[in-house]
Amino acid sequence: MAGILKLNAISPLADPIFAGYEYGDNIKDPMGIMVRSANMADYPAGENLLAVARAGAGTNNIPVAEYAKKGIVVFNTPGANANAVKELVICELFLGGRKITEAIDWVKSLKGEGENVGKLVEKGKGKFAGHEIYGKTLGVIGLGAIGIMVANAAKALGMRVLGADPFLSTHNALMLDPAVEVVAGNDEIYRRADFITVHVPLTPQTKGMLNRQTLDACRDGVVIINNSRGELADTAAVKEALESGKLSRYITDFPTADLIGVDGAICLPHLGASTPEAEDNCAVMAANQLKDYIENGNITNSVNYPAVSAAREGTARICICHMNRANMIAQFAAAISAKGINIANMTDKAKGDYAYGIIDIENEADDGLVRELEEIEGVIRVRVV
Ligand code: MLT
Repeated sequence: MAGILKLNAISPLADPIFAGYEYGDNIKDPMGIMVRSANMADYPAGENLLAVARAGAGTNNIPVAEYAKKGIVVFNTPGANANAVKELVICELFLGGRKITEAIDWVKSLKGEGENVGKLVEKGKGKFAGHEIYGKTLGVIGLGAIGIMVANAAKALGMRVLGADPFLSTHNALMLDPAVEVVAGNDEIYRRADFITVHVPLTPQTKGMLNRQTLDACRDGVVIINNSRGELADTAAVKEALESGKLSRYITDFPTADLIGVDGAICLPHLGASTPEAEDNCAVMAANQLKDYIENGNITNSVNYPAVSAAREGTARICICHMNRANMIAQFAAAISAKGINIANMTDKAKGDYAYGIIDIENEADDGLVRELEEIEGVIRVRVV
């Protein structure tokens, strides 16, 4: 029986999706893996491993590029936890504008003051006055599933909202409140925003994007919210900017030892998606994508292979992970037609260096055909489903 390994606790809503599979945290040589935050860098991926599904958006805990070379498809669940993260960002905007965290700590210090608490509160509250977010300018860097929800919600709260995203999809552009101003790049956000929130994946291009230079380009007293990944920020530069007052608050879901206790740094323990609603949504989406890939070869929301899905036609389906090179499709078609087999449907797409094809044929695919396809240079993995 096919096995699906859970590398973390996953919402039980995924359980019925894997009915008929061995599914648990002790599966040897699995064909699929469900993961949340477990670091897979040293996980010994076996020959049978077809795919990994991350119940979440970020995939920096998975060796995505190495898996692409082995024909292991990595899925994520964009949007499934977006509402949870959006709600946290809205909370953080208020934390950024007002001295709520300091005020709560101070009120705790009044324990034991008995009847005096009321008087002390009125006398001491002046130290904790803050600003409203209404009318302030928010810059949203990254207009993916989370960024657009944050932008729209902030707009509804009366903020002026700027958004920047070089990869803004037509779908997301249409979902944006028309009053959100899409600007040409992050520089304009750094220059104009009172609050900045970052919603981009951690990549070699985004690593360290919040650095001395970009912080210098910001308005004095800016509030920066980073719920994406800690490595997007150069922590030393953030600390300096907090000390100089350039940055009034740095609010992050990814604390590092040197930020804890620094004035103006508000550190949360990676709570963005920690709601049962988000965990359920992510688990169900990841499980459905993984199962659809295992059973039908369809790819939805992969970070290392293209999105390719097709309704089944013909008798058998051949799925091919391959390099994105010229003449691959012609070679597949030639190998299949040389066997006298008719192709009912063929879909093949590329993403970066890799490509993926689904070929529905009108006969069974015998081992000989599979071997011939496997031998074509640039083919990584062939499956019949
Ligand atoms: C994500 O990548 O989806 C969020 O950081 C939440 C999580 O890691 O689960």
